[in-house]
Amino acid sequence: MRGNHPVEHPMAFLALANIHKRFGTACILQDISIALAQGEFLVLVGPSGCGKSTLMNIIAGLEQPSGGTLALQGRDITHVAPAERDISMVFQSYALYPNMTVAGNIAFPLEMRKVDKPRRAARVQEVARLLQIEHLLGRKPRQLSGGQRQRVAIGRALAREPQLYLFDEPLSNLDAQLRVDMRAEIKKLHQRLGATIIYVTHDQIEAMTLATRIAVMQGGVLQQLGTPQEVYHRPVNTFVAGFMGSPRMNLLPARVGMAQGSPCLDVCGHALALPPPLMAALQDHAGRDVIAGIRAEAVSLAPQGVSACAEQGRLLAEVVLLEPTGSDTLAMLELGGHALTARLAPDVALQPGQRVQLLIDWPRVVCFDAATRALIAP
Ligand SMILES: Nc1ncnc2c1ncn2[C@@H]1O[C@H](COP(=O)(O)OP(=O)(O)O)[C@@H](O)[C@H]1O
Ligand SMILES: [Mg+2]
Repeated sequence: MRGNHPVEHPMAFLALANIHKRFGTACILQDISIALAQGEFLVLVGPSGCGKSTLMNIIAGLEQPSGGTLALQGRDITHVAPAERDISMVFQSYALYPNMTVAGNIAFPLEMRKVDKPRRAARVQEVARLLQIEHLLGRKPRQLSGGQRQRVAIGRALAREPQLYLFDEPLSNLDAQLRVDMRAEIKKLHQRLGATIIYVTHDQIEAMTLATRIAVMQGGVLQQLGTPQEVYHRPVNTFVAGFMGSPRMNLLPARVGMAQGSPCLDVCGHALALPPPLMAALQDHAGRDVIAGIRAEAVSLAPQGVSACAEQGRLLAEVVLLEPTGSDTLAMLELGGHALTARLAPDVALQPGQRVQLLIDWPRVVCFDAATRALIAP
């Protein structure tokens, strides 16, 4: 696996080593190893049912792994009870105590830990100020909006100042605008507190904007662990390429050919000359099928009215659908029977059914082996 940090890193703040989980005969997590540094914001993403919550529950101590170990700051916590781990978790369905005030809810974990009353009160004030819920401290949960309740749930997690915060889809019950606001709040919290956070989301933008690193999971297997940039621009396989980013990366079948002793890429009947790094990387794949991974923003319209000899390197496509988003226009195109999405200027003047010539920004293109689906190049 690329982009992975060494498992036995001596400086690892949190080290998950070879975590396995079975429920009966079903293998839910397979050999998950992640080393996290202090202050990191790790975002876990993957399709529903891929094991994200199970992994979070194992880190929190709510589930036992079937194999493997966990260490927090060098201390083996694999068999340590949840309450002894110094980890706070915020769930999607945050349960506040309905009969307690907001202040009571936030103070509760401190009370459980026998923190004295004056220190509890001071800490509640501090957390409330941070989350801008000071005016709500006397209210009961039923007197709060969804967003306010979620803030209180986060406040309860913050009150204890644990070594590690776990957030399992904390914003997925909120409406769109609140999600955007809370996303910014959580990012600010991370910046201000320098806290170490593991965060599960199915929201692409949340993952890209919050993470210092992203872990992409599928079927209980860690597919890639890397920075948002690495995962977005250099996905290790076609699964990650298709999963990360909105719109998803275009994946076009192609074949590596030879022209004047140099590899070229045959995409939908067009032989395209490639930039040297991509050429070098594809040298060993001459004559073989590959998959070209092309981000929508690497596709542009070729300038019109240029002489025929300049048309080399252009792809001919047909416009199927246009989706203006305001800041840009997504054009769904058809290219030799394959769908291709391009991110174009907001004011682009195109019509469905129109034929267009496209330019591809080749230095931004990646190629995958058609058989193994793994990244080849560059
Ligand atoms: N307690 C359990 N017993 C049996 N199967 C479980 C249990 N908890 C989760 N699973 C199964 O494990 C898989 C992963 O679930 P989960 O970790 O909740 O996925 P995610 O959070 O990525 O959607 C699912 O197939 C789910 O049905
Ligand atoms: Mg889940």
